[in-house]
Amino acid sequence: MSDRLFIFDTTLRDGEQVPGCQLNTVEKIQVAKQLELLGVDVIEAGFPVSSPGDFNSVIEISKAVTWPAICALTRAVQRDIDVAAEALQFAKRKRIHTGIGTSDSHIKYKFNSNREEIIERAVAAVKYARKYVDDVEFYAEDAGRTDNEYLARVVEAVIKAGATVVNIPDTTGYCLPSEYGAKIKYLMEHVDGIHNAILSTHCHNDLGMATANTMAGVQNGARQVEVTVNGIGERAGNTSLEEVAMIIKCHNDIDIETNINTQKIYPTSRMVSSLMNMPVQPNKAIVGRNAFAHSSGIHQDGVLKNVQTYEIINPRDVGIDDNSIVLTARSGRAALKNRLSALGVNPTQDKLNEIYDEFLKLADKKKDINDDDILVLAGADRSQHHRIKLEYLQVTSGVGVRSVASLGLSISGEKFEAAASGNGPVDAAIKALKKIINRHMTLKEFTIQAISKGSDDMGKVHMQVEYDNHVYYGFGANTDIIAASVEAYIDCINKFKM
Ligand code: KIV
Ligand code: ZN
Repeated sequence: MSDRLFIFDTTLRDGEQVPGCQLNTVEKIQVAKQLELLGVDVIEAGFPVSSPGDFNSVIEISKAVTWPAICALTRAVQRDIDVAAEALQFAKRKRIHTGIGTSDSHIKYKFNSNREEIIERAVAAVKYARKYVDDVEFYAEDAGRTDNEYLARVVEAVIKAGATVVNIPDTTGYCLPSEYGAKIKYLMEHVDGIHNAILSTHCHNDLGMATANTMAGVQNGARQVEVTVNGIGERAGNTSLEEVAMIIKCHNDIDIETNINTQKIYPTSRMVSSLMNMPVQPNKAIVGRNAFAHSSGIHQDGVLKNVQTYEIINPRDVGIDDNSIVLTARSGRAALKNRLSALGVNPTQDKLNEIYDEFLKLADKKKDINDDDILVLAGADRSQHHRIKLEYLQVTSGVGVRSVASLGLSISGEKFEAAASGNGPVDAAIKALKKIINRHMTLKEFTIQAISKGSDDMGKVHMQVEYDNHVYYGFGANTDIIAASVEAYIDCINKFKM
């Protein structure tokens, strides 16, 4: 029988730490339920001591999800562990994930400590967590840069103390695949009692090697992988779930299996991207828009003769359905509900009615409504309770003339209007906006993305605006790209602490 590889999803913890990607509890529950359908074994639901929001999300996800184990992160600190245990009270299967930095730089600069004391703290944390739960995972932060001999001592000590899983994070994404694989092999061969626990990979992608390192870990004995949907995560991200799942599925030479229902990969990817406002790069393996697009003549010719000439994955195996762009102005509520459900969104009847009204308005503006449009519409009420709203926007621009914009805002119900000229329509509109919101704020980043292909498409805008030494992230989506830009700027302002 093949060995089983456990999939530990940390989209809602390590993934959600990305600035601008924060989800509210309802959105986290939606993602967690989709992860359950996808078939992950463990959902890392948050770091409960870090904020009341994280604490509450772990509670609510524990109630909403049945099959996967729910995991809560802690430092090797008793109070963190107490709070994690409390947050996990409703989980059917629960795990506490505790740990401490083990590399020399973490020991010296982060903890001002020494190697022996770190082992004592690690052991104490695991023993303390075992008082609450049977399933305790220990992480040796920065294990990638920890020397193997010392790491083996740490791993041996925490397994003796009761750790059921030991996580070997390449926290900085520094290791080469050969080096990371050798580290796992060394631990498998040198740790007494290694078979009483499972070794886990947790690789970051700073040098683009996260998936390669994870697979090297698996090939050398790791039986759990820590991953995120679309590979999201701090800096360059974490190992992406879909890549590992499809490598295992495509490579019969790797005699191992996962519980992932690969046909749920694409809908899960779209849901996470849409809720987190985090675009997927077009050439991203497995889930990027171009992942299965054969554009060169030679490739197209080969694929037409026999699809296997250039395609190692059938797009249907990851849930990409060619017929997914089917909704038009003539589609009814039932068709919309059906498509939403395929994308993992199951609104109440009232919410469905609201989405349907917006759907009809959008269908007036563009012919085909695709999955991304629908997900944007389903999330559109996120701005409904905003204090500042765009009431209207009028822009004139062209070649050889200066752009002029006038706009109206409602701020807590009160109306304001302003006009300005600028170097292009977005500049003019933002200058008019700034005349009303008279604060010192600076646009730091501005990304425009068309959702799919047509000129009538919805445009998505991501923005970062600096105000009072903080950077705020905003998002807007509209068939009018200037309006989407102003909405994204307003989304940032609505988040200002003022
Ligand atoms: O990258 C890392 O080391 C982590 C740990 C907290 C598990 O995310
Ligand atoms: Zn991490």
